[in-house]
Amino acid sequence: MDLRRHNFLLVGDDAYFVFVPRDMQPCLVSARCAHRGGPLHLARFDDASGCLVCPWHGSRTSESRLRSRALESRLEGHHLRVQVAAGPAVPIEPLDRQVLANGDRLDRVRATWNDRASS
Ligand code: FES
Repeated sequence: MDLRRHNFLLVGDDAYFVFVPRDMQPCLVSARCAHRGGPLHLARFDDASGCLVCPWHGSRTSESRLRSRALESRLEGHHLRVQVAAGPAVPIEPLDRQVLANGDRLDRVRATWNDRASS
């Protein structure tokens, strides 16, 4: 998926969002909170604890836990090559959605790609 245009992936009924941790290495993580399925892409990132705070009931999910549940992927330039375990009949759709969980980190990563492209 082209991270300049997409930050969200639907795989059938499962939703994933591009999470950019503090080390700025994007990965694709489940948008479903482990507590009761709340929208983790709309979570707030707490810099002090390094956790996402779910907007529904306030559960905290650490960066390391998010990474451990991330889809297998590899960053090649601005493309994230993602390994998805889904049958051929399962629709896969990259999207651009409102994602609050990264603050402005994805924008900063995108800006570096645009800088490289213009130089
Ligand atoms: S659904 Fe996320 S804290 Fe309850």
